[in-house]
Amino acid sequence: MRSQATITALALVSSASAFWRMPCRSQTGVGRLDPIMDSGEVSDHVHTIHGGNGFGFEADFDSLTAPGSCTSCEVTQDHSAYWTPTMHFMYSNGTSVMVQQIGGMLAYYLYYLDDVKAFPEGFQMVAGNKNTRNFTGPFPDTELSSWPTDPSDQFFLQQRALGFNCLNYKKDPEASLYRHQFPTKDYMDDNCADGLRLELAFPSCSNGSTDSLDHKSHMKYPSLVKEGNCPEGYDVHHPFLFYETIWATNAFAGEDGEFMLSMGDPTGTGYHGDFIMGWESEDFLQNALDTCQNESGDIQDCPLFDIQGDDVAANCTFSMPSVLDQDDVKSPRSGLPVAIPVQNGPGPATQYPVAGRESVPTSSIPSTTASASFSLPTLSYTRAEPHETSTALGGIVVNKVSIASTKTTLPPAAKFAPSSVPTPSSSESQYVAPSSITEAPSATGPEPDILATSYMTNGNTVVELVIQEVDVTVTATPSAAAKHRRHAYKHGHAAGRF
Ligand SMILES: *[C@@H]1O[C@H](CO)[C@@H](O)[C@H](O)[C@H]1NC(C)=O
Ligand SMILES: *[C@@H]1O[C@H](CO)[C@@H](O)[C@H](O)[C@H]1NC(C)=O
Ligand SMILES: *[C@@H]1O[C@H](CO)[C@@H](O)[C@H](O)[C@H]1NC(C)=O
Ligand SMILES: *[C@@H]1O[C@H](CO)[C@@H](O)[C@H](O)[C@H]1NC(C)=O
Ligand SMILES: *[C@@H]1O[C@H](CO)[C@@H](O)[C@H](O)[C@H]1NC(C)=O
Repeated sequence: MRSQATITALALVSSASAFWRMPCRSQTGVGRLDPIMDSGEVSDHVHTIHGGNGFGFEADFDSLTAPGSCTSCEVTQDHSAYWTPTMHFMYSNGTSVMVQQIGGMLAYYLYYLDDVKAFPEGFQMVAGNKNTRNFTGPFPDTELSSWPTDPSDQFFLQQRALGFNCLNYKKDPEASLYRHQFPTKDYMDDNCADGLRLELAFPSCSNGSTDSLDHKSHMKYPSLVKEGNCPEGYDVHHPFLFYETIWATNAFAGEDGEFMLSMGDPTGTGYHGDFIMGWESEDFLQNALDTCQNESGDIQDCPLFDIQGDDVAANCTFSMPSVLDQDDVKSPRSGLPVAIPVQNGPGPATQYPVAGRESVPTSSIPSTTASASFSLPTLSYTRAEPHETSTALGGIVVNKVSIASTKTTLPPAAKFAPSSVPTPSSSESQYVAPSSITEAPSATGPEPDILATSYMTNGNTVVELVIQEVDVTVTATPSAAAKHRRHAYKHGHAAGRF
């Protein structure tokens, strides 16, 4: 079982040539809006929204890039809108509360397919299906080499484009897109000490249209989700867009109840997300795709990008439509916000009345049930050293960590291409203190390959973790060499020390 996971993880990191990672560390808003699926009206569930502030019931490329608009992401030229459902915890007595989102979101732009073309102006798409409530495949996935090369089963690929990563920074990281539904509450209590990371991969094969009637069918997944063969007629290759959000599910350890997504999904299989292209122009994005190929993936290493601080980005919010004023989506309340039924599946979820839409008055929204004595189970944070930190929404402190660098050499046969997908794991990976890295023998190169960053709560601060690839010299028999081919080290640095 373990070896299968390892194979999948290694396959996942084997081929991307370049990428960048867009940090959007604060939300522009949290509410029932979805300008793609529910354009012009109240959405039927709550989203956490990042990116451009030209957001609203009818957001599009023009509103997102309008003069004077801003972005909650770090690159000022990117006013794209990125959104996903929120996560909630429902106590066994039916009271629910929104789970705290940590560190905003990361949107990865990875170039897996060749000849990657910018998203055109007016482009938008949806990944995942909010009504799905079943996952019937094996766990973990079978080896990628056994997957069909023909990408005709898009349902199969869509469900494998969802990941629920159990975070425990003291253990080997799980591979991205490893698990395609929520782990059980008991499993999370026992294992996910640092929360749950929700992952969503978008389809990258386009038929050349900017949108379609269902907002999905102009885009298809290639045969291995991120790479492989595109279906016939879908020959335009867009970047592989990959969202990560982290939720402090660990705050509910030991509590009786269950986690669910805002559309009443306790399985996770209905996880989905939306994207509206809001880069300043298609030409700019194309130029960035062609130019920004530093293997670090850091936006700072792209000369075209203007970077703004997280404190400035955190001030970028959209104005919440007044019809949503009574929603109060975060506080403890009876049932999910707003009057959304829980649908367990395995059959597809069905539509329910949406409070605030024309036929359903807002007065049908039950008021929240917060009693004065209810204390919101949320993690609290305090500032670390101000000159090393920036504050995202909600008082979260992100401590930017510099890393020690070490690179040793590896026999060529065992060497892997520079990689990019977040948190690869291997059975050999291990947690090491920074000091043991800097003392590692036979260091030859100055710069490590950064695989991913992530966030962990450490006491009362949030620390940015840098996951770094370290090649290690192996002098052993071929079979032993294969066993030691790569170590993915994870560096957790104590807050305020760097
Ligand atoms: C439901 O249980 C939670 C956790 O014990 C508690 O805080 C909340 O007040 C309860 N809700 C009601 C309506 O009793
Ligand atoms: C792309 O697919 C959508 C949905 O099938 C269709 O409406 C549209 O016409 C297609 N576009 C092109 C350029 O073929
Ligand atoms: C990538 O960025 C690093 C850090 O800025 C820089 O030292 C390095 O030269 C860059 N690599 C390439 C290939 O541009
Ligand atoms: C953010 O907005 C607040 C309130 O308007 C203002 O006081 C603060 O200076 C702004 N911060 C930045 C970094 O622009
Ligand atoms: C799972 O759900 C999807 C869509 O709701 C449906 O098409 C599919 O047949 C279901 N599969 C199983 C095995 O129930």
